[in-house]
Amino acid sequence: MGDASYRIEVMHGVNLDMLGHRDPAIYGTLTLPELQVRIEEFAAALGLRVRFSQTNSEGELIERLHRAREEADGIVLNPGAWTHYAWAIHDALEIAALPTVEVHLSDVKARESWRRVSVIEDLCIATVSGRGPDGYRVALAQLRDALTKSDT
Ligand code: DQA
Repeated sequence: MGDASYRIEVMHGVNLDMLGHRDPAIYGTLTLPELQVRIEEFAAALGLRVRFSQTNSEGELIERLHRAREEADGIVLNPGAWTHYAWAIHDALEIAALPTVEVHLSDVKARESWRRVSVIEDLCIATVSGRGPDGYRVALAQLRDALTKSDT
């Protein structure tokens, strides 16, 4: 089991509160609260502590990233559509300076061309895309490995 003291911020950006009402063929049928229960189970199995947030306000996500610098050891970030153009989120993530895994429920590289661009990928240790809810398990496992390695 991993170090139960690792604190992971799981951050959901714009429109992810509408999961369950978005196209199920792309995003599945889980609502955000249901997805968070799943993620909580993945985290418990990996011995990680998770804290969740979702916002539709870009400024709020930026402020959460500023606070994460002091309050977390790692970040799992699904910024929704902000992924593709929000350079202020890129800069806030750079300020947070924490190991981060980018997650997308859908396979963004196989959709519209504008979704193939990620303004945060250069700051992330990995990107997990197109694996649905299980992508969060993969992301948490990658973060735990990175944090464990950096402690030894
Ligand atoms: C998303 C993919 C984005 O392109 C989209 O704008 C979202 C969700 C995903 O999880 O697949 O809102 O980040």
